[in-house]
Amino acid sequence: MTVSLPTTFCGIDLAHPIVNGSGTFDAIAARRVFGDALIERFPFAAFVSKTVTVEAREGNPPPRLWELPAGLMNSIGLPNRGLDGYLAHDLPEHARLPVPLVVNVMGFSRAEVARLVAALGAREEVAALELNVSCPNVETGLVMGADPDETAALLADVRPLTAKPLIVKLTPNASDPPAVAQAAQDAGADAVSLVNTLRGMALDPQTGAPWLGGGTGGVSGPAVRAVALAQVAAVAERVTIPIVGMGGVASGRDARDLLRAGATLVGVGTESFRDPAAGSRIAGELEDALRTGV
Ligand SMILES: Cc1cc2nc3c(=O)[nH]c(=O)nc-3n(C[C@H](O)[C@H](O)[C@H](O)COP(=O)(O)O)c2cc1C
Repeated sequence: MTVSLPTTFCGIDLAHPIVNGSGTFDAIAARRVFGDALIERFPFAAFVSKTVTVEAREGNPPPRLWELPAGLMNSIGLPNRGLDGYLAHDLPEHARLPVPLVVNVMGFSRAEVARLVAALGAREEVAALELNVSCPNVETGLVMGADPDETAALLADVRPLTAKPLIVKLTPNASDPPAVAQAAQDAGADAVSLVNTLRGMALDPQTGAPWLGGGTGGVSGPAVRAVALAQVAAVAERVTIPIVGMGGVASGRDARDLLRAGATLVGVGTESFRDPAAGSRIAGELEDALRTGV
């Protein structure tokens, strides 16, 4: 399917507005399982890596997934090879993809985020950086993306370290995401993305103890679509920088709704677990939906 919906995002030319949600499409595993064809006809207009942290992480103990009536809850816990491992192993693979690369990073302090931004921002293979701020700052105890002052302080530290576009990935588990978006914009962010997963919980039916190894998990998929639409619309009223909207997108009409609410790009996450080619299918459906108005 050839999709012609050219889009410019933070100065980056993209074939269409559909990208993957961080952590929901492993391009290296996809090549192994589905072969080069899936990679050559890459389903997304840009590739967003899963979160990279300074140190390597094993992730949370199992079980890591709980299926919901209309979605998924995960407590994967951000397993990754760490910064050095990413640079040595994953970056060369991601750089071979036929689309621009966005690297998603998370630190447990502002200094850690700064280290990640400086190291990855200096690499020519990287088109932009996405800051996953859904994580407590060990120095202040506040979630970096849940408090506008905390977000502003983070941007003040990392903005000077790179000229590459910085996308702040907002958490929906905050009392006022539009205020956080505004703080990010005022402190120099080039874009915001939302929503990350919503905190949820499931109990083991036998024991009554939390089912997920991490205790709680992040809810995604169609269950969060209405929340995502409302948050994207509210953020679009507050900021002028571009928005990557995501949360429960499973069809071109869902993507069109987020564009109508003010997004420039649309992320597809959970749907890719059902259909690894969901990105190109949704881009094609979006083109139809925009052309026919249905
Ligand atoms: C299994 C899984 C892993 C995820 N890993 C990450 C991650 O590493 N970094 C991140 O910023 N978001 C991560 N997310 C959040 C998604 O990128 C996205 O924001 C969220 O799932 C909402 O979109 P969706 O409903 O289309 O899945 C993950 C989501 C899922 C379901």
